[in-house]
Amino acid sequence: MEKFVIKGPCKVKGVVSVSGSKNAALPILASTLLFNKTVKIKNLPKVKDIETMINLLRSLGSKISFSQNKRIVKIKNYKIKNFFASYSHVKTMRAGILVLGPLISRYGLATVSMPGGCQIGVRPINYHLSGLKKLKMNYKIKKGYVHANAKKIIGSKIKFPKISVGATENLIMAATLANGKTILKNCAIEPEIKDLVNFLKSAGAKIKWTGKRTLEIYGVKSLDSTSYSVMGDRIEAGTFCIASALTQGNLEVCGLKPEIINTEINLLKKIGAEIKTKKNKIIVKGSKKIKNLKLLSTKEYPGFSTDLQAQFMVLLCKAKGRSIIKENIFENRYLHCAELRRLGANIIVRNKKAIILGGANFEGAELMSSDLRASVALVLAAIAAKGKSIIHRIYHLSRGYENLDKKLKKIGVDIKKIR
Ligand code: UD1
Repeated sequence: MEKFVIKGPCKVKGVVSVSGSKNAALPILASTLLFNKTVKIKNLPKVKDIETMINLLRSLGSKISFSQNKRIVKIKNYKIKNFFASYSHVKTMRAGILVLGPLISRYGLATVSMPGGCQIGVRPINYHLSGLKKLKMNYKIKKGYVHANAKKIIGSKIKFPKISVGATENLIMAATLANGKTILKNCAIEPEIKDLVNFLKSAGAKIKWTGKRTLEIYGVKSLDSTSYSVMGDRIEAGTFCIASALTQGNLEVCGLKPEIINTEINLLKKIGAEIKTKKNKIIVKGSKKIKNLKLLSTKEYPGFSTDLQAQFMVLLCKAKGRSIIKENIFENRYLHCAELRRLGANIIVRNKKAIILGGANFEGAELMSSDLRASVALVLAAIAAKGKSIIHRIYHLSRGYENLDKKLKKIGVDIKKIR
């Protein structure tokens, strides 16, 4: 199994470009099932989750061809004959459930493996299912699969009981080809959802934001051919910004509109980093003194992202003074804490809260990755630690970070991938 060997401490310097957003590309790819015309998608990130979604689409009958080093994909979904999303495709990537909305909307038939939980939480799909039921999808859960059918998806009014990114996406896709009007209230408004909406609108979907968290969707008969470029990855951008703040670096992070991660940029300023923003660029200079944060709570967008919680914790471990993080989105997203302690961090976890005592002088150690974002937090900590660290199970990282080792090497990190 591959591992990273990192020799620290390193300062990150120079320019790094973020890849296309994995979390935007996944629903956009799933939504191509709604089309009977050719769709071109650009700026795809080369990460494992995208490969898994492509394989899932191919297993349903999608004709897919790549160009430009796999960053551009042409998809023809004229002949979907299979409506079965297998366990083997969905088990490694929960976003596999996103084919349910489009399949049921266009074909009235879908059997999709239940995604199950993962290390960070139970992650049920009850809001996806209850929402689709309101649009007249019938379903049964049998032997680990959602067996769904519908004569026709019919528009309705739905208020999500809790904000969910995936449920909002599934319902947007299903409502796009529905009969009549759908109103979705209490939607997630993550930038990736806006990217999905813009993609569908570029193909003629009738979708309108009528309130901060309200969408009105008028079902259309079919979608037109379109070509669309996926937004930059805000979590990758945030991760690199944190790397610079952590290591007294001087880094230019390119490929994302800075306002998308305003919340995180303001937090980095608060802990002492110097930040300048330009049109598609964030320049982060790390300060010698990192200030603590009394309370940092994860929240739905535009709040502080749960996907950057682990990385921010690394920064707070080095801060002067005590900080508290409260994880409000997932119930088990502190797996990185035990590993950070191995480097010298002083963290106490109490239910949703992690108390970080600060002032840690990290020293290199052997570390075990547990999930995508926790793994990248370990990489950041190893960059800041004195001496050699070995990070095991880095396959988690390839799910969502493109060429992480190559990008880090280019900005001054002593990192090697070994077997
Ligand atoms: C997406 C992102 C993930 C991010 C998360 C929260 C993708 C591919 N993944 O995941 O990186 O961390 O948003 O920003 O875009 N919930 C239910 N019932 C449901 C659906 C969700 O109880 O039917 C709960 C979840 O368990 C979780 C919370 O709602 O506690 C938020 O989950 P959700 O926004 O749906 O996350 P995902 O779409 O799975």
